[in-house]
Amino acid sequence: MLPSLLEAKKRTNNEVKNYKYTRCNDYNNIGINKKYYIKTYGCQMNVHDSENIKALLEEMSFSETDSMEDADLIILNTCAIRENAHNKVFGFLGRVKHLKETKPDIITGICGCMAQEENVVSEIKNKYKWVDIVFGTHNLSELPRILNDSIKNNKQEIEVLSIEGDIIEDIPVKRDSKYKAWVNIMYGCDKFCTYCIVPYTRGKQRSRNPKDIIREVEKLVQDGYKEVTLLGQNVNAYGKDLDLNYYMGDLLKDVAETGIARVRFVTSHPWDFTDDMINIIKEYDNVMPYIHLPLQSGSDRILKLMGRRYTKESYLELFNKLKTIPNVSITTDIIVGFPGETEEDFEETLDVVNKCKYDSAFTFIFSPRDGTPAAKMKDDVTLTTKNERLQRLNELVNKYASLNNQKYLNKIVDVLIEDRSNKDGCLMGYTDTMKLVNVKCDDSYLGKLVKVKITDIKTWSLDGELAE
Ligand code: SAH
Ligand code: SF4
Ligand code: F3S
Repeated sequence: MLPSLLEAKKRTNNEVKNYKYTRCNDYNNIGINKKYYIKTYGCQMNVHDSENIKALLEEMSFSETDSMEDADLIILNTCAIRENAHNKVFGFLGRVKHLKETKPDIITGICGCMAQEENVVSEIKNKYKWVDIVFGTHNLSELPRILNDSIKNNKQEIEVLSIEGDIIEDIPVKRDSKYKAWVNIMYGCDKFCTYCIVPYTRGKQRSRNPKDIIREVEKLVQDGYKEVTLLGQNVNAYGKDLDLNYYMGDLLKDVAETGIARVRFVTSHPWDFTDDMINIIKEYDNVMPYIHLPLQSGSDRILKLMGRRYTKESYLELFNKLKTIPNVSITTDIIVGFPGETEEDFEETLDVVNKCKYDSAFTFIFSPRDGTPAAKMKDDVTLTTKNERLQRLNELVNKYASLNNQKYLNKIVDVLIEDRSNKDGCLMGYTDTMKLVNVKCDDSYLGKLVKVKITDIKTWSLDGELAE
């Protein structure tokens, strides 16, 4: 089954199937004495999908290794968002091929958003015949069967579904952290921004049933988790595709009331941000005052061409409303060099950055994605100009990021200590506002939410010591 962009684009009113994962015990012993290595590209959704893949493989008795050279099975969970994500995957495949020449029994699999792309899969089919399995974002839970088929039939198995998508509950999960957890609240996206491949690789917007989400979070609280991040491409639109009169504000409230120490959510499309959500963030101390609010462009003309459904003015209006949340930090995503972007358009973007003074921003050069409308738009902006704009934008973004960090000097902040730090004698964690802090303390603090006094400011992080 090969992917089809045409099929992937379709949206119907058909009801979304919602069912439970059932384990098939026929595959339990396939991975005995075998190791798997998984490399993950892309966004948090892919990171969380990899946590599912790991658990599925461990149900088959595989064990994890963090060294590709030791692995019997290598899985690449890929991202299609920009050309360089593609290039990285094909570059990595070169290394895998090399390894396979010395260890021919290695099994290789490709999954994730690139596996949903026609051109990628046809390239793998024709030029990478040694890749054993390809599966997509819609049938990840069928990995055990697909892997078994490939071994049994000794041939390349390509199984990619270009469907609107279902919701499959209870797929097993092996979480990377004991303290922080990703929780999907919705899948897919219906916004179809003209530059973006996600609606084609992830299917239609499907919100999970609130009961299932709350049950998952309650279990995490019982297991000692301190933080959940609610995940979706447009979390603010949560519930709009259900018939429950229950939306993101309601969900935030119910998740906060499970008693979990910290609730985060990404990503917020400006279009669906409601006052109700803002009130809940203000009302509940455990809903973190951190909002990622992608801008993409400050020019109304470009925003329209992008299909973003807001204007510079309405974005700024929302931004100012969000700023009434005490101590809030706001970050963004910006694309430069969209087809036909003029110097004036770009200056509108700089103007918004000057007004919003973001805590931080991810900035990208527009990358045409096959099958999206923007890829066909006339683009007369040279790469040199795009690079220059990116540099100018980054200078401004960095200036404000650094100014925002300065405010933390000598302040006492809450940090969830989550891991060892690169810095000697330190552990690391994040503030409520998502600032990375290196804290001088010993391993006994792992997993604890502590008060930290900030003693030094670096460009991308803060240094601190325990305050109590
Ligand atoms: N759902 C999120 C975005 C997910 S993709 C939202 O709507 O805000 C993450 C970011 O990648 C986007 O915000 C955008 O800035 C960037 N991006 C997406 N497609 C791109 C493309 N074709 N070229 C360059 N950047 C892109
Ligand atoms: Fe892509 Fe737009 Fe959907 Fe975000 S909202 S995933 S940018 S189509
Ligand atoms: Fe990439 Fe797919 Fe996420 S394209 S950004 S991994 S949804």
